[in-house]
Amino acid sequence: MQDLRELNEAIAAIKQEILDHAGELESSRGVYEFKKGFLDSKKGKLSQLMKEMRNIPNESKAEFGKNVNAAKEWAVNFFEELDTKLKAEELKRRYESEKIDITMPAVQPKYGNLHPITTVRNQLTEIFASMGFEVYEGTEIETDFYNFTALNTPQDHPARDMQDTFYLSPEFLLRTQTSAGQIHVMQSKKPPIKVVSPGKVFRSDDDATHSPMFSQMEGLVVDEGINLCDLQGSLNMFVQQIFGEQTTTRLRPSYFPFTEPSVEVDVSCFQCGGKGCKLCKGTGWIEVLGAGVVNKKVLENCGIDSEKYSGFAFGLGLERIAMLKYGINNIKLLFESDLRVLDQIDD
Ligand code: PHE
Repeated sequence: MQDLRELNEAIAAIKQEILDHAGELESSRGVYEFKKGFLDSKKGKLSQLMKEMRNIPNESKAEFGKNVNAAKEWAVNFFEELDTKLKAEELKRRYESEKIDITMPAVQPKYGNLHPITTVRNQLTEIFASMGFEVYEGTEIETDFYNFTALNTPQDHPARDMQDTFYLSPEFLLRTQTSAGQIHVMQSKKPPIKVVSPGKVFRSDDDATHSPMFSQMEGLVVDEGINLCDLQGSLNMFVQQIFGEQTTTRLRPSYFPFTEPSVEVDVSCFQCGGKGCKLCKGTGWIEVLGAGVVNKKVLENCGIDSEKYSGFAFGLGLERIAMLKYGINNIKLLFESDLRVLDQIDD
């Protein structure tokens, strides 16, 4: 037989236990676990008190039952309030941690842009297209015939030493110059001819201004009565568009087996206007390309009547133009794909 008073004290002790430990609870999950210890229908301390019912004298049963139920109800409410409070706190903490600072500078999306060589190639192609030139793209692997022999540079010709060649076999090679395209064009087309031929070329050459792979653009015009003046006139128009209206050209005698006469073409320095500066090494002029009047032998090699027709040809390095235009002093910067460099070149 249990004393009702003792049992009521047990109820009070349980309530006290709940109150004592409730402060340690930090999360809704914690409340749930803690609550089970008291209210779980089997193992909960309050539920178990009901088992004492059978030990209680009949006249006290009703009161004891009422007290346990009251304690249960109190506990349910107590835990519910605590749970609501902790859930609110949890939410507040989450909001704090997930807070977005809208005053922070946004991450700028990066847009890609064309590589400077592509840009220069497009610009040059457009300029020549506006002057009526067609575009012919040759192949990077060529035969010795197209790259040299047909261009009046037979085996053992000393001019072969001007270009250190990567041979793939005695017959095939990586083209050293887009001039190889001249022959293809003249074999397949009869005058009037007006083409530019951009593309990659290869030479065993490697320093700050030379790379084993680089890009050239060839120009070829063949028609009746074409001479060196036509060449200079066309090149003047071209350099004015690429380097500015004040730019002019000067021709210096040179040698290429496939042109006669041959010239090196300089442009007046677009940085100092010809006075002399670091870029033009104090001379007022910058060398940009090789050119000349197409050698009669080359026309004849392609079955073109050299008595009736004449032509001019020029070849320029796209990297060289890009380096001059963008002030780049090492050709390797154009091939390393370093975004810190490329990001600065955009037009
Ligand atoms: N092919 C020559 C070179 O690569 C350039 C050139 C082209 C010269 C056409 C004259 C005429 O050096």
